[in-house]
Amino acid sequence: MKNDSENNLMEKIVSLAKRRGFVFPGSEIYGGLANSWDYGPLGVELKNNIKKLWWDRFVHRRDDMVGLDAALIMNPKVWEASGHLSHFSDPLIECKNCHSRFRLDQIATSKEGDEISCPQCGKKKMGAPRQFNLMFKTFIGPAEEAANVAYFRPETAQAIFVDFKNILDTSRRQLPFGVAQIGKAFRNEITPGNFIFRTREFEQMEIEYFIPKPARDEDWSSFFEYWRKEMQEWIAEAGIDGTKIHETEIADGERAHYSKRTIDFEFEYPFGQKELYGLAYRTDFDLKNHFKEAPYKDGQTGEAFWPHVIEPSLGVDRTLLAVLLSAYTEDGDRVYLKLKPKLAPYQAAVFPLLHNKPQLVDAARKIYGDLRKKFVVAWDDRGNIGKRYYSQDEIGTPYCITVDFDTLGDGDDKKLKDTVTVRDRDTGKQERIAIAELEPFLHAKIYR
Ligand code: GAP
Repeated sequence: MKNDSENNLMEKIVSLAKRRGFVFPGSEIYGGLANSWDYGPLGVELKNNIKKLWWDRFVHRRDDMVGLDAALIMNPKVWEASGHLSHFSDPLIECKNCHSRFRLDQIATSKEGDEISCPQCGKKKMGAPRQFNLMFKTFIGPAEEAANVAYFRPETAQAIFVDFKNILDTSRRQLPFGVAQIGKAFRNEITPGNFIFRTREFEQMEIEYFIPKPARDEDWSSFFEYWRKEMQEWIAEAGIDGTKIHETEIADGERAHYSKRTIDFEFEYPFGQKELYGLAYRTDFDLKNHFKEAPYKDGQTGEAFWPHVIEPSLGVDRTLLAVLLSAYTEDGDRVYLKLKPKLAPYQAAVFPLLHNKPQLVDAARKIYGDLRKKFVVAWDDRGNIGKRYYSQDEIGTPYCITVDFDTLGDGDDKKLKDTVTVRDRDTGKQERIAIAELEPFLHAKIYR
């Protein structure tokens, strides 16, 4: 059971997300659609910044990685070969009294033979468990016939395997190298919920890192350990609270059908400790199932073989949730999102001290226009400065820039002409910076 303050935190995040335009309930004016969420004006900025940070870190800043952006709907044979049509299922159990459906592994007690009570109605009238396939079905073309059945991809990974040969031929990579992809995935989850934690439509950031055929376990486990550290560093870079992360070894029999070893990176959400990311050793399972002939030839020995794969798999939505939960800070009456400055929807905000003094407004507009060429910047001239700070704090804007009478040279201290006040979100401290220094100042702070 979670205590009140932990439950409250989730309520506060969901309410702030809606009120400030991070995440809205999907299709709301039609009564909503259960567990569908839309990213609003600030949410899409935060989400894009997360994806950009990941892509920069794992693709652009490395020379052993290339990218891919594949189709969402693939030939159904892909999912036959990958094992998803036969194995990608969760155990479903239905209450014969109230007809609520649950995932067996989420409600079963550890004692075998226990009769399970329905979490909804409390009756002990649960039916026999059955495997429920999570693949999201659709039809291609106008005829809804078996021959036209297709599936939305349940993971981005599979396209990387299917395109492996094309990527290899066009990018001329030698092992080890990786392929990264960001995109939507779909699963007909039995129990979606907890805001954006588990939805039927979500986004993934996945890497398939191809390594030589291992002769001994150390040959793959050293790569596995390397990617484990990379994930730990990513978690720190994204500003996710590392003290709430737990790495859990997934036991034999509980791993996905393709995995020889999996570590889940779990996060302490207010609703419990649950999966944030996964790291798996997929062996040569996927490439072997897709390619009859070995798709890779060793440059020196000429030996052809199926490379093995280490897979760091990240959910974008769960990242955003963990980032918001980690950033949310209350300090007396002050509420602020302590987001990493490069992830914040706005990196700075510019205010004229008073909205009805044209000289202040003109000078502030000029700074706003110049900074927007380099940063994402908000403008605010409503209400008093205190309210504007409060409003920017709540959405995580790291720097607020105020143009006042000193800036114009009309204050007591003439030396302050052409300077502005820059206020730091986390400390609340203000300092005077020359307008000409603003851009390098912000650049150094945001990209330090
Ligand atoms: N290719 C491997 C794979 O898909 P997974 O553990 O099933 O592995 C990877 O999914 C990540 O995708 C998870 O760690 C999580 O971050 C995210 N994810 C999975 N299912 C999700 C869902 N229903 N809603 C939101 N995110 C999900």
